Amino acid sequence: MQKIEPRIKQYEDMGLGLFIHWGLYSQLGVGEWTEFIHERPQAEYEQAIHTFTAADFNPKQIVHEAKKMGAKYIVLTTKHHEGFFLYDTHGLSDFDVMHSPAGRDLIKEFVDACNNEGIKPFFYMATYDWHNPLYKTDFNAYLEYLRKSVELLCTNYGTIGGLWFDGNWNKKDADWHLDELYGTIRRYQPDAMIINNTGLKNMGKVINPEIDAVTYERHTPDAVNHGDASKYVAGEISLTLNQHWGYAANDLSYKSPREIIENVAHSRKIGANILVNIGLTGTGAIPEMSRTYMHLLGRWTNMAAPAIYGVRPAAVVAAGNTKDFAVTNHLNTYLFIHDLQVVGNDNVVLGGEGINLRSFTGMFGKIKSINWLDNNAPVCFMQDTKKGALTIDATGFTYGTDWVVRVARITMSD
Ligand code: GLC
Repeated sequence: MQKIEPRIKQYEDMGLGLFIHWGLYSQLGVGEWTEFIHERPQAEYEQAIHTFTAADFNPKQIVHEAKKMGAKYIVLTTKHHEGFFLYDTHGLSDFDVMHSPAGRDLIKEFVDACNNEGIKPFFYMATYDWHNPLYKTDFNAYLEYLRKSVELLCTNYGTIGGLWFDGNWNKKDADWHLDELYGTIRRYQPDAMIINNTGLKNMGKVINPEIDAVTYERHTPDAVNHGDASKYVAGEISLTLNQHWGYAANDLSYKSPREIIENVAHSRKIGANILVNIGLTGTGAIPEMSRTYMHLLGRWTNMAAPAIYGVRPAAVVAAGNTKDFAVTNHLNTYLFIHDLQVVGNDNVVLGGEGINLRSFTGMFGKIKSINWLDNNAPVCFMQDTKKGALTIDATGFTYGTDWVVRVARITMSD
């Protein structure tokens, strides 16, 4: 039997997080990899520190918007691959926010705003670094620099939700001195989650016993690798609204709200957390488009809230539409129903009329009633408790609505 650490259980209960990419690169508006991919000479690129004002950075508002979206935690890039720190490094590096016109510790402001709203602050930290020459010339010395930068994050901001590392994939076979790094976190922040992004190609790989959650960058697997018998490990998938993580003004290739909502729903199916990403502008504002998407997702998470947080995949399996699934908590089981249509009439034919049967197996308890979460309307059902078979008439969306994924609450007979 796998043991579940309380911090990992708490993390899984949160379900949905907001990912925020922000750095000097945001001022250029062409993605967070621009220095590398566009082969910008380092000295020239790093001049961007002199125009970094953070003039529109309003962490209170960001946290407020995150909360409205339904996020329970936020992962903010404290340093990305470019090597620029959004916090006061107290002399560890000149390439930090204190040496920019912003001149204030933005991570402190972020953490304060999170704490005020009951949102857990997580720190993204790039381990792969283009700024510090030691990364190439004296790797062990670089690792000590990295460890110290993490120590600052663990000691200057009170209790944090976790550390989210990214970049070990750049030196796959190197000794990253993970015991020292993770040991530092455990020493100061015993309840912090330790997450290390395994990169695009190594989905869900556990690289060190201290890892608390595995990542599936941009992927949505059908099952999560929860580790071996020695430790239960959580899973996390991540999603950008368009194609880039960092702000990219001319990336117009936004996912449809349908795709985003279906992905968030899917994360519940596989019992993985999901991070939805936005990139702040160069001055630290939420781009208009991102804000709109956040509001939209917030409508859905607000409707589906009881079925999103603190739930786990149920042993109830859809027999028809395999996108459909069930989750459960200690009180209720919820059905997630996909591909429904709007119920109209002959004049506005929207296709949702008629009987819309969906079947499930593994439902043995006797059901008292089933109701849609969006309007509380009852759902007709038939059940064979011996066989564990359940069929519902999944009606369709009430005219005037289309929630993309509809959720129904099952109430059991006592
Ligand atoms: C990648 C990229 C990085 C991004 C991250 C988000 O590993 O290197 O730019 O921050 O994915 O998951």
